[in-house]
Amino acid sequence: MARSINIALLGRGTVAQGVIKLLFKNQSLIEKRVGATLTLSKVLVRNTRKHREFKLPARLLVDTPEKILNDPKIDIVVELMGGYEPARSYILKAMEAGKDVVTANKALLAVHGEEIFTRAQSHGIDIGFEASVGGGIPIIRTLKEGLAGDRNRALYAILNGTCNYILTTMEDKGESFREALANAQQLGYAEADPSFDINGIDVAHKLAILIILAFGTRARYRDIYTEGIRQIGAMDISYARELGYRIKLLAIARHEDGAIDARVHPAMVPVDHPLALVRGAYNAIFIDGEALGPTMYFGQGAGMMPTATAVLADIIEIARNRIHGKSLRIPPLGYSMKSLGRFPMKTIDDLKTQYYLRFMVLDRPGVLAQISAILGHKGISIASVIQKEERKGKCVPVIIHTRAARERDLKDAISRINQLKVVRAKTVYIRVVAFA
Ligand code: NAP
Ligand code: HSE
Repeated sequence: MARSINIALLGRGTVAQGVIKLLFKNQSLIEKRVGATLTLSKVLVRNTRKHREFKLPARLLVDTPEKILNDPKIDIVVELMGGYEPARSYILKAMEAGKDVVTANKALLAVHGEEIFTRAQSHGIDIGFEASVGGGIPIIRTLKEGLAGDRNRALYAILNGTCNYILTTMEDKGESFREALANAQQLGYAEADPSFDINGIDVAHKLAILIILAFGTRARYRDIYTEGIRQIGAMDISYARELGYRIKLLAIARHEDGAIDARVHPAMVPVDHPLALVRGAYNAIFIDGEALGPTMYFGQGAGMMPTATAVLADIIEIARNRIHGKSLRIPPLGYSMKSLGRFPMKTIDDLKTQYYLRFMVLDRPGVLAQISAILGHKGISIASVIQKEERKGKCVPVIIHTRAARERDLKDAISRINQLKVVRAKTVYIRVVAFA
């Protein structure tokens, strides 16, 4: 008779429902792969009477966490509630009780990861967090294992399914930002508070986790320069295409001269780069390794079933460790906590890159001369200009693509340009990525 590993879920929302479905559907396959039965023993819910798509026997449902955290029969606690508290306290209590932990909670790990991973190490607890970054893409394992022999120079990634879905449906179907966001929520991609998605915070959380794995340094998510996609309009998406780019919300981390350049912002990606082809809720992580060169990992980055596969992979790995012994297990971050560095983070003002600028100006002679004089004064050269609409005396967009300029100079120039009487709205600027 195969041994049984008892699993408890904290939360019964989108991802948890997917995990429950997979645990039941793939039961015999999992048993063969693990050499043990995985038994869903308890599920913590706030309301045992709430209607859920996937029915469960009432005996599995509990509404107090102690029934899981104090139950000696539970081997693995899977946290799928989201948020900082009580998720943090429940995870720490589960570890104190000797239970291994799986979580998809990138917000929690980005902010309280140091405490959680240190506790896991000191208690000899396994912690799986594959679902926290890239949904169903096994990027955590890839960085920890597949790329362990190389030095990573840079990573460029699309890490938010909701934002990528919004940007691509605005482009493909002409949907408004609001409609596209509502659909992403309906499809189960968005966070409980979708401002985490559209303000870039969710991506910064994920990037903070990837930086540790990719570069072996601690990274505080608050030190990552972060912008979201709210300011991107349909006309920017269309002008970007005309200039040969697609707009993507990118997570960028580069290791240069002992420092990390880490940022999250909308970026103009050349249409022939593989990241430009990533559509809908798909994610991709493009990594440049010193010995390996470029590789890209692609797949569904959000949603019930893709995320559930990543959670289940962690459960399976931990169950195998429990069955076959933990002696060979890899530290959760691929490094012992003690050996992690603390590299300085570069500031965005020192960035040198090309820019896409959209000015909303009165259609009047001499306007372009005023703008280009301010740009020229700051040493910013113009590569091309687009002004199509003719609406004498009315407001029209003027698009300027600059040559590489220092961010500090660009911001100074824009704040001066925004004060001109002929400029009728805040200027939009989007960084153009050069994949070096
Ligand atoms: P969700 O649909 O909002 O589900 C969260 C669940 O947790 C709900 O069932 C909620 O209960 C329950 N919950 C919250 N606080 C609780 C508490 N104090 N006690 C008991 N239950 C509690 O969220 P989700 O989309 O499944 O996401 C779960 C986690 O996975 C989050 O950390 C998220 O960032 C992460 N994640 C999500 C995705 C995705 O595509 N959705 C992908 C990767 C990672 P009620 O049902 O009563 O509200
Ligand atoms: N809200 C997140 C996204 C879920 O849209 O990517 C996956 O982490």
